[in-house]
Amino acid sequence: MPEKLIWKEEYSVGVPLLDQQHQGLIELINLLSDEKAKPGLIGQVFQELEAYTKDHFSAEEKMLKASDYGALKAHKKEHRAFEQWLSAVRQTYSVGVTSPTILAETVNAFLRDWLINHILSSDMAYKETLCIAADTKHEANCE
Ligand SMILES: [Fe+2]
Repeated sequence: MPEKLIWKEEYSVGVPLLDQQHQGLIELINLLSDEKAKPGLIGQVFQELEAYTKDHFSAEEKMLKASDYGALKAHKKEHRAFEQWLSAVRQTYSVGVTSPTILAETVNAFLRDWLINHILSSDMAYKETLCIAADTKHEANCE
């Protein structure tokens, strides 16, 4: 298993709530590294991941909609693709053909890649919009 992921300041999208949610996702991803020591953990991670992404994606999409973000449609597409991936991989897990330890490793690698790329490119792309949106009700931190 690779080193655990650590959230960095450069991942900040300028909105504390979204940053906190991204940090929560990183924690969930890191839990996958413990599958070998605690068999079955992956099932719990999947469950929490589903609930978590649901909350996170909808919070993000709501803010983007409120600030009239031009690339919202494309951004939503990425979120939906993620949800589809999650449901497919959960199915693979429930069928039980792949060893949970190996599946945890594969899922871990995919999620690290996805989250970091998604935050650093797609999420970063909306940073400015959210920061200048006058009607956003959240506090932004946009230095
Ligand atoms: Fe996003």
